[in-house]
Amino acid sequence: MTERPAGEVLYRNQGRVVVVTGASGGIGNAIAIAFAKSGAQVISLDVIPTEQAGANIAFIRCDVSDPEDCKRAFQQVIEGFGYVDVLVNNAAIQPTESYHPIHEVDEEVIERMTSVNLLGYLRRARLALPVMLEQDAGVIVNIASGQAHRTAREVGIYGPIKSANLMQTRQWAVEYARQGVRVVSVSPGAIDTPMVRATLAAQGGEEALANRHPLGRLGKADEVANAVLWLASEDAAFITGTDLEVDGGLGAFGAFAEPY
Ligand SMILES: NC(=O)c1ccc[n+]([C@@H]2O[C@H](COP(=O)([O-])OP(=O)(O)OC[C@H]3O[C@@H](n4cnc5c(N)ncnc54)[C@H](O)[C@@H]3O)[C@@H](O)[C@H]2O)c1
Repeated sequence: MTERPAGEVLYRNQGRVVVVTGASGGIGNAIAIAFAKSGAQVISLDVIPTEQAGANIAFIRCDVSDPEDCKRAFQQVIEGFGYVDVLVNNAAIQPTESYHPIHEVDEEVIERMTSVNLLGYLRRARLALPVMLEQDAGVIVNIASGQAHRTAREVGIYGPIKSANLMQTRQWAVEYARQGVRVVSVSPGAIDTPMVRATLAAQGGEEALANRHPLGRLGKADEVANAVLWLASEDAAFITGTDLEVDGGLGAFGAFAEPY
């Protein structure tokens, strides 16, 4: 089968201003490139520079766990581009030191994960929403995870925070629905990115991880990007408050994805 590169499907995102956090790596990078290819102006907020920065992808350094840093970054977005049509809350961390039962995870690791993965999403939304309300339009896409939906061993910090991302999605969707703002989330299965490569050993190796997915392989970042592109577009105008699992069928296993 011929592969279709992300961004070549014509979801209606042309001319929109799209802020993507964590767009220098993995899934966020694929999302940024896909939006840019589909005619959007992308602003990448990350702690490391975005390699593809250029005409359609602007890079603004921003640590999403630092409220002041992000206020400054959003001011730069508004001054430079005037609008925020789409916010993709994607930057999140899953340090290898978090792969332990919860009583063995260091407080510092828990605080770092909470400030990036939970408060980071909240704070970026709080900066984007006033702009979206002024525009009477906007879309927030929160990147959650298959681990938001079902348990596995040793993800006791990451999983519940990812679950909270689902609830943030529903809460904000209901709160702002009548003001033109849609909020959705996407829950990837295991996608071949630096984050997953760094934690392969803790997850039983690549083959074991791939085999937990009925499609028998890890996903590709482009496959998540295409889902985000569609959900953010006008083609998904009647979808809000919902989550889409892009997971090779992993979710069909329910709570039994991993034998005890
Ligand atoms: N890769 C997977 O299999 C998978 C599965 C489910 C969910 N997810 C979710 O997808 C999203 C992206 O994951 P990924 O695998 O591409 O991760 P990644 O580690 O490959 O990339 C994350 C990016 O976020 C940036 N980042 C980290 N901390 C930051 C901070 N404080 N401020 C700004 N930027 C920061 C990094 O520099 C990097 O560019 C995350 O929300 C993750 O939880 C990933």
